[in-house]
Amino acid sequence: MCDSRETLTINAFVAGYPIKHSRSPLIHGHWLKQFGIDGSYNAVEVHPDNFREFLSKVKSGEGGFAGGNVTIPHKETAFQCADKPDELATELGAANTIWVEEGNLCATNTDGHGFIANLDERHPGWDRAGKAVVLGAGGASRAIIQALRNRGLKEIHVLNRTVERAQELSDRFGEKVHAHSMAALQETMQGAGLFVNTTSLGMDGSEIPDFDFSPLASGAVVTDIVYVPLTTPILKIAEQQGFAIVDGLGMLLHQAAPGFEKWFGVRPQVDETLRSLITADMEKHA
Ligand code: ATR
Repeated sequence: MCDSRETLTINAFVAGYPIKHSRSPLIHGHWLKQFGIDGSYNAVEVHPDNFREFLSKVKSGEGGFAGGNVTIPHKETAFQCADKPDELATELGAANTIWVEEGNLCATNTDGHGFIANLDERHPGWDRAGKAVVLGAGGASRAIIQALRNRGLKEIHVLNRTVERAQELSDRFGEKVHAHSMAALQETMQGAGLFVNTTSLGMDGSEIPDFDFSPLASGAVVTDIVYVPLTTPILKIAEQQGFAIVDGLGMLLHQAAPGFEKWFGVRPQVDETLRSLITADMEKHA
């Protein structure tokens, strides 16, 4: 006999390697409870050697999943294995959200959405100046640059220790994106309304350069994608110099919402209750 409860349950996952520090189960678990949905969202540790096989099980329905999130180091492979990646994922060459639709593995990338939605929520009007400086040219920087360009910013300056990686992003995302070495920091900040740190600078206790944010436009915002600690060394300096700061936690929360809607059928809200739940967990594990 068929168990009707089983057919109604919707299961989703976050797959990564390692995965045990992921806070995504806490976020989705909160929303599942809030909406009273019969569903699950669990962290699954998948070794890179087994990830393609894992995806084919998701696609065939063998894992019993509606879809899930994909994190480091699987984002590129998730994109490569998708039957139907959307435009965002295709341009990035990386996906963080997948779902199955009529037997096809579909994929998108919500990191850029998370980044922009966090700024819109915490500092509306942040995009007024039209010019942004992005420090770092890794995987996270890539999604942010795409999102800033799509938002319509006129000038996006990417600075990286290894300038070739910044150049690769400029080539990929078009003429509004300009590549520089770190030496161009002061010059590129001139009149910028947004400064984004996507590097791990200072996070390992190492010295960070003496940042002088004064060339930024008045009313400029400084943000960091790292959210542990909430106020990173770079954000501390910016705050001391009188600039508005936005921490990176909201990016994590907002990037989760579109996936939840895909799998569970309801668009959740990012609110203070959710934020407090995650900050309390961060304090517990500090
Ligand atoms: P992620 O996917 O989180 O962006 P990543 O791809 O490893 O991670 O990229 C890390 C970024 O931080 C890169 O821009 C890296 O610079 P390089 O491309 O030159 O390696 C930058 N980064 C890390 N440590 C740094 C340091 N001590 N000084 C300057 N940049 C640093």
